[in-house]
Amino acid sequence: MTGKTRQSCNGTQAKLGKALVFPFPPARLLAKRAFLLRKAELQGTLLFTMTTVFVLNGPNLNLLGSREPQVYGSTTLQDVEKLVREKAENLGVAITFRQSNHEGQLVDWIQEAGAQGAGVVINAGAYTHTSIALRDAISGSGAPTVEIHISNVHAREGFRHRSLIAPVSVGVICGFGPMSYLLGLEAVHRVMVERAPQAKPSQH
Ligand code: DQA
Repeated sequence: MTGKTRQSCNGTQAKLGKALVFPFPPARLLAKRAFLLRKAELQGTLLFTMTTVFVLNGPNLNLLGSREPQVYGSTTLQDVEKLVREKAENLGVAITFRQSNHEGQLVDWIQEAGAQGAGVVINAGAYTHTSIALRDAISGSGAPTVEIHISNVHAREGFRHRSLIAPVSVGVICGFGPMSYLLGLEAVHRVMVERAPQAKPSQH
């Protein structure tokens, strides 16, 4: 073979002559590259894929700071979000932080997290103790989920001792005030790292 050659992405060699510099039309080349990137991502050989965690807050948590401060303290939900984002930056985790007073909205967000391959830290508020819909969303979405609470629910009224979402969550953290969010984030992040497919040595 005369002339210089280059290795193409499918392992064949193409001449660097006038007509044969590009073995594929550019659009096909780009599509192939995107396909290979996606394949490597699925195989876990791309090490820079960022973990995303949805931090979801249920009913009345928008009132944090003014709501029963003797139970929940004076930290607002905005303060909690700031703390969570600082911790996430240290961990290298992307955060989606949301609050809703509506059960169906929380269901939608859990499903969204599952579809994105994200983890969930959820303070479901009172829905923790009542919502089969949230439980089904967690188990159905497959999103690794950590249930958290600001207060120690087990030291409170009997109806707070039962959680419908705990059995489908990876674990439960409660009673540490706003720190429960940070512990929950660290826990779900570790679980996701452990569960991530290990990088395989390159075949080429
Ligand atoms: C809470 C505990 C729940 O029992 C209560 O309904 C809440 C807050 C907590 O963070 O301690 O709204 O989830």
